[in-house]
Amino acid sequence: MDNRPIGVFDSGLGGLTALRQLQQVLPNEDIVYFGDTGRVPYGTRSKETIRRYTREDCALLLNENVKYIIAACGTVSSVAQDELARLPVPATGVVQPTAAKAVATTQNGRIGIIGTAATVQSAAFEKALLAIQPNLHITATACPLFVSLVENGWIDEEDPVTVLTVRRYLAQIKQAGVDTLILGCTHFPLLAPIIQKELGDHVHLIDSGRETALLCAQQLGERDGLADKNTGRCSFYVSDRAEGFSRVAEIFLGRSVQENVQTVPPERMKQKG
Ligand code: DGL
Repeated sequence: MDNRPIGVFDSGLGGLTALRQLQQVLPNEDIVYFGDTGRVPYGTRSKETIRRYTREDCALLLNENVKYIIAACGTVSSVAQDELARLPVPATGVVQPTAAKAVATTQNGRIGIIGTAATVQSAAFEKALLAIQPNLHITATACPLFVSLVENGWIDEEDPVTVLTVRRYLAQIKQAGVDTLILGCTHFPLLAPIIQKELGDHVHLIDSGRETALLCAQQLGERDGLADKNTGRCSFYVSDRAEGFSRVAEIFLGRSVQENVQTVPPERMKQKG
């Protein structure tokens, strides 16, 4: 048994969709969440910058004595997998578990991927999918504006700007006849109802947070690393704007945030690491 917390991080608020899933799968585990709200978005940045941010984010979580790290960010998972592999605690990104679920789900071998520009450019999801099953037809589209729409709370199913943006980004994927779509960015589950409506009910949407939470539970279980005394406490850290965090976090978590939210400026993150 291991009663240390699980660390979860994202460039901002998107990772909270994964945290929500993790709390459903492992309700007794304590969790430390870090959202790098001072430096979001990651998806438009260079590989080197994303890798450096990943090292700093993980150093902050390790300083909180976490037993496992989840990179709840499609961009980090796609671009900085090797940084995660080097950590002194077990860690996972969202790519492998999500790809495995997508391959298990598709019937017609046609899979779509949506993510940030950095995620799509890295082709990490494609490589993971093709490593499991080589004869897939894959269509990937970068949807950078989705992140801003979600961070601004423009997620209403009737919002005309969001509906039109979804339609425009997904046109190629729709035309490709996919039956499975990977939501390759942890912000995107909040747009799932609009995406589902646009593509039709026959398309399965794969939520990367859910699959990653299940993998974390499995890996901790295998190494006798689950907690036996914890109560499912959450600590939240952000690198900017703690005041606004609780309000917007409610949308992502589907519950009100009563916990204290602490701000950790990037300079301190470096010292801590
Ligand atoms: N949540 C991040 C991801 O999953 C996207 C936001 C960003 O660009 O930082 O890729």
